[in-house]
Amino acid sequence: MDIIEKLKNIRKEAEKELKEISKISDLLEFKSKYLNKKTGKITEILKLLPELAVDMKRIVGKEANMLKKDIEAEVKKIEKALSSKKDLVFYDITLPGTYVSKGYKNIILKVLEDCKSIFSNVGFDIVEGPQVETDYYNFEALNIPEDHPARDMHDTFYVSEHILLRTHTSPVQIRVMEKQKPPIAMISPGPCYRSDTPDATHSPVFHQIEGLYVDKNVSFADLKGILTYFFQSFFSKDVKLRFRPSFFPFTEPSTEVDISCIFCGGKGCNVCKHTGWIEVAGAGMVDPEVFKYVDYDTEIYSGYAFGMGVERITMLKYQINDIRLFFENNLNFLNQF
Ligand code: PHE
Repeated sequence: MDIIEKLKNIRKEAEKELKEISKISDLLEFKSKYLNKKTGKITEILKLLPELAVDMKRIVGKEANMLKKDIEAEVKKIEKALSSKKDLVFYDITLPGTYVSKGYKNIILKVLEDCKSIFSNVGFDIVEGPQVETDYYNFEALNIPEDHPARDMHDTFYVSEHILLRTHTSPVQIRVMEKQKPPIAMISPGPCYRSDTPDATHSPVFHQIEGLYVDKNVSFADLKGILTYFFQSFFSKDVKLRFRPSFFPFTEPSTEVDISCIFCGGKGCNVCKHTGWIEVAGAGMVDPEVFKYVDYDTEIYSGYAFGMGVERITMLKYQINDIRLFFENNLNFLNQF
């Protein structure tokens, strides 16, 4: 059969088949039969061109290309018609897919979860409190007097005169003790706010984990025990603890808690500023003044409390040198964890 004849037959056949297309699968089948670059009927003709005489080449080439254009135009029309039918969305299953990246937990959330499980493994409840607090819970019931500098506008975001964004997680201590009688073993993780200017170690929003344990005969040794257990579990290292005398209005005695430097093991390095120790928490025995606010008998009960900065321990564990990275939402940073 002569090649022009062949082309005519293909055109006839294609026209007939085009009329019969009623659904997307028909169309895809048609496209692959006629327009596929390797095996389509038009390509088959074009493949014959090199063997033809020059003037035939021209004629056949022209015809074949016209046929291709005509078919493509028809296919376009049908595609449009099919995709405008409401229940038939046209999609070309031969196109490469679009990559949908998976979301995952922010590193702070992950650390919070690790901490929660370390504490709940030894029987601590996990309690959450409001982030918008009254000055009663944030300050007064924690024995922080009216004229204490922590209460300043300077340090604190006030919503109105007596309502503020909590500056620490300690108000949850009061909320729990108001509702529950001892024994109490709880931790309370969550965001806190202070009107700090952001720098490498300060952020106006940060996270704390509060801990509170109240029962009969609770001693400083119990505090040391739980914090040693926690820090050794968290860092998976045999860290040592050091307690330095300090002051918080709601604990007495109060202490800053240091761990032996996880980088140099206490020998002294840049991170621990050559002291061998890194400060990681504030803590102390619950001040009996605080028990008075929640009607606990100070003759019967004693307790310890601690509070630690989540960003701080995360920075140490994952060797991050700027707290602002946690809040900038830069994927190059976040994707590393
Ligand atoms: N709330 C204190 C702070 O934010 C930390 C702390 C908690 C200290 C519990 C002692 C006991 O600095």
